Amino acid sequence: MQKLVVNPINKKSVINPEIYGHFSEHLGRCIYEGLYVGENSDIPNINGIRTDVVEALKAMKIPVLRWPGGCFADEYHWKDGIGPKENRKKMINTHWGGVVEDNSFGTHEFMELCNQLGCKAYINGNVGSGTVQEMSEWVEYLTFSGLSPMTELRKENGRTEPWTVDYFGVGNENWGCGGNMTPEHYANEYRRYATYCRNYDSNQKLYKVACGPNADDYSWTESVMKTLQPLDGHGGERLNGLSLHYYTVPGKEWDHKGSATQFDKAEYYLTLKKALKMEELISRHGDIMNQYDPEKTVGLIVDEWGTWYDVEPGTNPGFLYQQNTMRDALVASVTLNIFHKHSDRVKMANIAQLVNVLQAVILTEGEKMVLTPTYYVFKMFQGHQGAQLIDSFMETEEIGTGGNTVPNLHESASIQEDGTINLSVSNLSSDTSYEVDSIIVETEVKEVKAEILSGATDAYNTFDRPEQIKAECYDNYEVTGKGIRFTIPACSIVQFTVKTK
Ligand code: AHR
Repeated sequence: MQKLVVNPINKKSVINPEIYGHFSEHLGRCIYEGLYVGENSDIPNINGIRTDVVEALKAMKIPVLRWPGGCFADEYHWKDGIGPKENRKKMINTHWGGVVEDNSFGTHEFMELCNQLGCKAYINGNVGSGTVQEMSEWVEYLTFSGLSPMTELRKENGRTEPWTVDYFGVGNENWGCGGNMTPEHYANEYRRYATYCRNYDSNQKLYKVACGPNADDYSWTESVMKTLQPLDGHGGERLNGLSLHYYTVPGKEWDHKGSATQFDKAEYYLTLKKALKMEELISRHGDIMNQYDPEKTVGLIVDEWGTWYDVEPGTNPGFLYQQNTMRDALVASVTLNIFHKHSDRVKMANIAQLVNVLQAVILTEGEKMVLTPTYYVFKMFQGHQGAQLIDSFMETEEIGTGGNTVPNLHESASIQEDGTINLSVSNLSSDTSYEVDSIIVETEVKEVKAEILSGATDAYNTFDRPEQIKAECYDNYEVTGKGIRFTIPACSIVQFTVKTK
């Protein structure tokens, strides 16, 4: 019997809903086909945006969406994507498959998508190949309500009122595809670009995100934090967030990242072990940030994370299309648990990417749509959004094969304003179920609802069999005087919603 202790007395940081954020890049079939099919499509849509996908994402409670990249952001020129569609400039998407981008999905279409989803907008500006003026004018076009050349242009294009943009990224991966800069050079560029990203209206305050490190590049974090000295608060160029990108790639070589669906036990545990590295990355980057920002006013924004495998056989290698199994669901669950536990520093995270790319929550094929195991994790965990982290401690044992060991169980807990407790528990074992005896300290459990996602490690949904894996009601538990005793099957995720009042 494994012991689990949850202590709701000790309320900690608020889990920002944006930790459940997503990312949509002009890459493969994410934007075109996945989200946007155009007004003349036979696929049901509103203003060109797929209705089935919007409904599914609303049910999952998507809080924020990042766009237009990724690497694409640093070669995107926003003025090419506004005005009459027939006049929009075509470009080559040099990063992703060399396909022609016709710019039919631009600023107005993205803001319409966010409006239909009811989510916040996170726009990523171009530092690598754009100008300060271009970025400044984009912010003006998006958010200014007064009289100016950009607001006139916006009105000509059919939009009178400004939009609300909550988050703005000043470049993406500027250590790589965003211009191959050194950290000091980038940080100085950040000051210059961010200065001219104005807060035009009193109700509009941009949360500016600087390009942070790739995985364990601690020296990037050190240099950028040092150069930007967030405590000095340099007026317009003040830093609100620093990004972190980390992908879980099981293969040793980039050309052999591993299959999304065909893997043995060793690769399964290796993948989970690599996903759990997020804990160390956040702690160590957080330690560096603490030196310059002990009050934790700067958020760590994990705006790209998830699994990255070889593309599905026969698909365009530049489109990054991969299937999604129970292994991915476990990666999502442990990563979200880690974000909860670091919600004092992690203020937003965006899994890559929303539809048809990398660890997607939705896959589409023509008019068909399928929800992936990862989708169900986001849906089951939605009670954590905006709740307060509470202490939880799980007795675990190391399991795995070869050198690839991981804890058998993984958990996190939070409490909502009305006293409802959310408890998420994952069983990482591929073949063993466990009995867990949980104690919820000084709490009278009034009512419990539970859901489970489970299946073989390599089980997934297809367009022909879309409901192989889905969240189901779970009743293999018993409410004890002190908490809940339950049996958690191998390779599964259980979500408890506990009413205490
Ligand atoms: O998500 C795919 C790519 O991964 C993004 O464009 C880039 O930022 C990262 O390297």
